[in-house]
Amino acid sequence: MTSYIALSECSPSDGVRLLAQAERIFFETTPTKTFESAAARTAFQRRWFGNYADAHPGAFVFALDENGSVAGYVAGCPDSFSLASKTIIGDIAYFTHSFRAALKNYPSHFHINVKSALQGRGIGHCLVAWFAEICGRNGSPGIHVVTSATSRAVKFYEACGFSSVTPYAGADPGLAVLIRATVVPQKGPSAT
Ligand SMILES: CC(C)(COP(=O)(O)OP(=O)(O)OC[C@H]1O[C@@H](n2cnc3c(N)ncnc32)[C@H](O)[C@@H]1OP(=O)(O)O)[C@@H](O)C(=O)NCCC(=O)NCCS
Repeated sequence: MTSYIALSECSPSDGVRLLAQAERIFFETTPTKTFESAAARTAFQRRWFGNYADAHPGAFVFALDENGSVAGYVAGCPDSFSLASKTIIGDIAYFTHSFRAALKNYPSHFHINVKSALQGRGIGHCLVAWFAEICGRNGSPGIHVVTSATSRAVKFYEACGFSSVTPYAGADPGLAVLIRATVVPQKGPSAT
């Protein structure tokens, strides 16, 4: 049975252990396999993984297998356009002015990776649902995801309820940008 836990809910030692396992999955499943140098590899890890764990541990969610080992994870950013996310988006080239304007109603975003041997079992869908729930609870109206236009993940995102964004000025044709609304819980009537 798979269970789910955010980095912010882990003890410090569990957090370090689970992050190390998730990092192995990150390098195992990313299409980028070679790096010019150790520094380039570290920069790549920071950009797509480490910056998220540091800035938003409450939105970095692990899927754990029955042995408590990481089966997959979502590195999430609930509010890409806030000060707290400056390091994340400042390091990613596609966060241009026109991109930000087009995605202003979909301020959350994430990266997701599931261990190769465990793909296709519904873990990815559950991780997306967990992240969407966190975003809604934090008041975010919507989520965007970015992947290569030719990636197999496009079909996965569509199956998770995402649809392609309306083309915007300066959009990179090599990228697929997809969006999905969240459910923001309504505040109940105030107690008297
Ligand atoms: C994309 C990914 C997160 C989906 O997680 P998952 O647990 O395999 O997904 P689920 O079991 O919930 O859903 C299955 C669907 O995911 C997609 N999928 C399965 N394996 C995939 C893979 N290696 N790469 C991309 N998409 C994949 C398919 O659309 C599949 O549906 P199908 O069985 O009808 O073809 C996971 O496959 C993965 O980590 N892939 C490699 C890394 C990646 O592409 N990450 C996203 C980059 S933006």
